[in-house]
Amino acid sequence: MTAKPNTTKRVLSGIRATGRLHLGNYLGAVKGMLALQDDPEYQTFYMVADAHTITTPYQVEELRKNRRAVILDYLAAGLDPEKSVIFQQAAISEHFELAFYFSSVTTIAKMQHLPTFKDKVKQYPNHATMALLNYPVLMAADILIYMADRVPVGIDQEPHLEVTREIARRMNQDYGTNFPEPQRFATTGEYVPSLSGEGKMSKSVEGSFINLTDDLATIQQRLANAATDSGKGTIADEADTKLKKIYTDASGQRSDGVARLLTFVELFEGTDQRAEYEQQYTSTGIKYGQLKQQLAQAIYKQLAPMQIKRHELENNASFVDQVIADGNAKAKAVAQTTIAQVKEKIGLG
Ligand code: TYM
Repeated sequence: MTAKPNTTKRVLSGIRATGRLHLGNYLGAVKGMLALQDDPEYQTFYMVADAHTITTPYQVEELRKNRRAVILDYLAAGLDPEKSVIFQQAAISEHFELAFYFSSVTTIAKMQHLPTFKDKVKQYPNHATMALLNYPVLMAADILIYMADRVPVGIDQEPHLEVTREIARRMNQDYGTNFPEPQRFATTGEYVPSLSGEGKMSKSVEGSFINLTDDLATIQQRLANAATDSGKGTIADEADTKLKKIYTDASGQRSDGVARLLTFVELFEGTDQRAEYEQQYTSTGIKYGQLKQQLAQAIYKQLAPMQIKRHELENNASFVDQVIADGNAKAKAVAQTTIAQVKEKIGLG
């Protein structure tokens, strides 16, 4: 291990290889990964979850490209191979072995009832495969094979962490293993809403996302399509929505589009700027054209340095190859140790 040799607490996280990273991935996951990478108490393991990508329909050549693209995005965002082990999940076959052992303490009924499974089956009705059902079990193996007790992910991954904790408990009870019960490491961007329509920002919903590689004109274009209202109305708190507040415009219409937009303002321009717009909403009115221009600039300002770095990395293939090879070797060594211990405990070693 290069960095932080004397620490025993570990962190693991990953992102599927389904395309370019967007602001939701960055604020919900990568920012937490960066924060923990700089915490001397933790050894940090960050992978591209390439094998999870094949749990839903995919193109072989796209996957091949994307499993490298995610590593480039990681490095461009500031993940540092001197501080973190950066690797490819599929290169560490021990993950799949541990997932199989874990599947022996996991019921089918439990997996079928997970909201994430139901959502994907709705999205791909002809693709309700065993791999999809096993998604959370493989994720538990990803985490527990490194004995990680901290996982920087967005709030949507909480059900999967609950499954991970249950598997850890069952394994420890039944076989005397020593797995931790991992907790989510939350960021202020743990839930980044979609730019348009319902729900969260998502790669699979066109119009919902801004990518880390978008230039200023693209960001402006994407924000231009975000819904607004007349600009004036009332504001109320709502505890049980992820958007936190209800904006009702002068015509009495509820404006979730405005709640979404002001969430982005808060994330990129701060709470004071949001408060200022809210003050305008209940008095003179918000001018959305100006708001969107200023927000686009603020978002681009954060992304521009990453884009420059990514461009450099694209021209330095041998460096990236070396990062991946080193990371895979380090991850493999830890994974092999855990597998040997687990096999011994369950009667296969
Ligand atoms: P994936 O690729 O779906 O999502 C990657 C990460 O991005 C976060 N995220 C968001 N956070 C806030 N707001 C959003 N709109 C938003 N959209 C996505 C997700 O919460 C996630 O942290 N199952 C994982 C991949 C994985 C994994 C693991 C993660 C496989 N094994 C082990 C941690 C540990 C996933 O959903 O990836």
